[in-house]
Amino acid sequence: MCGIVGYVGSQSALEVVLAGLRRLEYRGYDSAGVAVLADGQIASARKSGKLVNLEKALVDGPLPAGATGIGHTRWATHGGPTDANAHPHLDNAGRVAVVHNGIIENFAELRAELAGRGHVLTSETDTETVAHLLAEEFSGCADLAEAMRLVCRRLQGAFTLVAVHADAPDVVVGARRNSPLVVGVGEGEAFLASDVAAFIAHTRSAIELGQDQVVEVRRDEVVVTGFDGRPAEVRHFRVDWDAAAAEKGGYASFMHKEIAEQPRAVADTLLGRIGADGALILDELRIPAAELREVDKVVVVACGTAFHAGLIAKYAIEHWTRLPCEVELASEFRYRDPILDARSLVIAISQSGETMDTLMALRHAREQGSRVLAICNTNGSTIPRESDAVLYTHAGPEVAVASTKAFLTQLVACYLVALYLGQARGTKWGDEVLGVVRDLADIAGAVERVLGDMEPVRELARSLAGAGTVLFLGRHVGYPVALEGALKLKELAYMHAEGFAAGELKHGPIALVEEGLPVVVVVPSPRGRCVLHDKIVSNIQEIRARGARTIVIAEEGDDAVLPYADHVVRVPVTPTLLQPLVTTVPLQVFACELAVARGNEVDQPRNLAKSVTVE
Ligand code: F6R
Repeated sequence: MCGIVGYVGSQSALEVVLAGLRRLEYRGYDSAGVAVLADGQIASARKSGKLVNLEKALVDGPLPAGATGIGHTRWATHGGPTDANAHPHLDNAGRVAVVHNGIIENFAELRAELAGRGHVLTSETDTETVAHLLAEEFSGCADLAEAMRLVCRRLQGAFTLVAVHADAPDVVVGARRNSPLVVGVGEGEAFLASDVAAFIAHTRSAIELGQDQVVEVRRDEVVVTGFDGRPAEVRHFRVDWDAAAAEKGGYASFMHKEIAEQPRAVADTLLGRIGADGALILDELRIPAAELREVDKVVVVACGTAFHAGLIAKYAIEHWTRLPCEVELASEFRYRDPILDARSLVIAISQSGETMDTLMALRHAREQGSRVLAICNTNGSTIPRESDAVLYTHAGPEVAVASTKAFLTQLVACYLVALYLGQARGTKWGDEVLGVVRDLADIAGAVERVLGDMEPVRELARSLAGAGTVLFLGRHVGYPVALEGALKLKELAYMHAEGFAAGELKHGPIALVEEGLPVVVVVPSPRGRCVLHDKIVSNIQEIRARGARTIVIAEEGDDAVLPYADHVVRVPVTPTLLQPLVTTVPLQVFACELAVARGNEVDQPRNLAKSVTVE
């Protein structure tokens, strides 16, 4: 939801900010804008549409050179994606410029108040009110950080704000509440950004900002205070990936690249997880072992693809720990008054670590006295910081809006957490844990093999470019995989797609099946619970008898499916519970290829944003 960049240093602020925005465009891409401080004035440009529109406008109307600047790429909340609503927003005198991510809930009241004092607001956004309020406060104190603190104390909602003032050269000020903002510390330069990807080409040294903090950056100084003005503790961290990881590296899209990176991402997430004593290692653990042994229920909260990872985690957690496990959409969780107490362990899964629905769910859980364990891909983000324990997935930066490698690494992390709980509670012996970890270690190679044989899947996808609907069926851990396959197709190919538990089909959805309808079936291993395998083979026969074109994802050597499959996609043999790590991959490739065949932009599907920081 909106990408923000701020820069102060000695390079061209415009170039640094635009390069940063390119890296953040995945966060929102319906308009973009920049502001630069030059010769005691603010020069700015804004354009609706993707960043490239702004870049073209800057070629036609260049901005003067300056070494302090801010920029924004937007995912609209208040006001449509027009030039006038694009950020930065300026006050009437054009002395202050502000960019914003989030929602200011009391903006209508603030707007009316400002209008009453003679301010003229020219956009439909909530952000513009901040520019006007900042200008007023600055005229009283001549200190941009203090003006920001005074304004923030009046704002309700979630926001990251970054501002510059024409009368405060060489300083950029930022503020955050419930929305991400990180500081990059370079040599004689500093950066503010929604995500480290914006400044990774310049520095890997970063500072996390806490809730309700204001940061003031100059070339050689970073000062962090609370909204109340008190100095805040500064937490430094080093970004453990480099600029090359955030580039396309010769692939047609970030999604192609991220699908291809999955074997590495899976292997990296497993690295260093077993200690010398054979015990599993999490990244941060602030839960005493005795408390973990007392846990009597696990609740997983997540959204979208991460929710599907949670659905798969349930099978492993219940099987390996014998603890009941509920999986809940984070956006529904706190509104149904869930039964939680100090013995409930809540697992929050999030690639970005900033998803507002998941954050609110975890806060609700902690208010009820539950402990929260985060599975997250983004160091320094809010969800792990507010959790009692963290396991980081080492997928590296995921730039394509549709999640692929983050999902596979979330699965690995879920299996590790399930084993960890099993080990802590004594339901899994050390040798059993090591056996599963070894199986997991083999998965990277299995994913590699799947990826090496995807041409038939791509060809099939291209042949279906004109289809209206695709259904996905699965059983057991294959059911969430079917949901994930359908989600990928919806968001990338803009096609009607639905995932069903195969056994549920006869209770209604089978009425959708008609001549030629493509149905993808994720077949469980015949070696695991063969009863499931036999049942799904019957389900395939049922839909085929009604005219469906069956696309069957089945393990190598499973020939029982052959008589009923129009197309077979083979995956390597894996333990039953780990099978989603290989069966998901052809579905990602299928959706990606179908999207390309339909002329869609795979990295930035319409209406979406990578990090959803509003509820
Ligand atoms: C789908 C997708 C989304 C995210 C969801 C949660 O491909 O990417 O459904 O999984 O928005 O995002 P995170 O994991 O950042 O909390």
